[in-house]
Amino acid sequence: MSVPRPGGPSATRRSRAADRTAPALRPVAWAGGSIRLLDQTLLPDRLADLEIHRVDDLIAAIRRLAVRGAPALGIAGAYGVALAIVQAAREGWDGSTFTAAVGRLRAARPTAVALAQGVDAAYARIDDGLDAVVAVGGALADADERANRAIGRHGADWILARLGDRPLRVLTHCNTGALATAAWGTALGIIRELHARGRVELVYVDETRPLLQGSRLTAWELAQAGIDYRVQVDGAAASAIVGGLVDVAIVGADRIAANGDVANKIGTLGVALACAHAGVPFVVAASASTIDEESAGSAAMTIEQRPDDEVLLVAGRRVAPPGARAHNPAFDVTPAGLVDALITEQGARLPASPFTR
Ligand code: MRU
Repeated sequence: MSVPRPGGPSATRRSRAADRTAPALRPVAWAGGSIRLLDQTLLPDRLADLEIHRVDDLIAAIRRLAVRGAPALGIAGAYGVALAIVQAAREGWDGSTFTAAVGRLRAARPTAVALAQGVDAAYARIDDGLDAVVAVGGALADADERANRAIGRHGADWILARLGDRPLRVLTHCNTGALATAAWGTALGIIRELHARGRVELVYVDETRPLLQGSRLTAWELAQAGIDYRVQVDGAAASAIVGGLVDVAIVGADRIAANGDVANKIGTLGVALACAHAGVPFVVAASASTIDEESAGSAAMTIEQRPDDEVLLVAGRRVAPPGARAHNPAFDVTPAGLVDALITEQGARLPASPFTR
């Protein structure tokens, strides 16, 4: 293991040109004493890594969405505990400094259940040493990739059984691909699987305001995969669905309550409501670990509120009048009754609440 020099290296950036054609894009990796993140804020213009040596730099990277997407956050959280062990040894932390750093990391973003799960799973192994903690991150990544491949197969099976074995027009929201997971993706994993079976005609990609995970990240992943797509503003989703342009909507989830309510990127609820109106299947894809039995329903889920400037500035330029304030929730909650199928690695399951249709 290469431990960074005492004195404290800061986060550094390195181009990832050599990985451009790699079949599996991995947004988070343990780099033997540090964490390597693919800096998603630079995509699609630049493919560059961040080398993270301090827990608070990891927290900052999580908050500004350099690493994002629920499963990727879980893996980053587990490796973050390993990073805390390395930093503690380097800087001579006492126990309370260590615990506080891990607590800050666990709370860096509150909605995705995976971040706290990843931190907790790694923290449970700290008495077994650094290698055991690092192994938790690796095991989470392996399990997530396996789950995503199974989600892809189950989701494609369910959708083609429901809609008939034909090329489909799919709508998706936010980014649920390899960038958001260990590899492959959840909702985007189903789209990849449908594409592999020759069953994707076109993907409508919601741009996903305000941080554009759809137009920057999903569009980039679809282009890499050779899947035909159109980027649309979020406000176009309802009319595309109600107007008959969409056969199925497939989205991911950050946390699923015990009653089947789904927290996901802001704008997901509008997609679900339009699908319910139009009779278009609304499919949620997520690993079974996303189901949080401790959240009874939407009221128990904390929705992250993001800074005003993400809404009030466009491409760095203020577009709202001086003094304007923003309403900027990062996620919304879709009631279980609007979900036609929840696809996990275990198969398709119907949400716990009764269907409205
Ligand atoms: O704010 P983000 O980009 O982290 O939000 C991500 C999403 O909402 C995804 O849909 C969700 O995490 C599922 S990723 C497989």
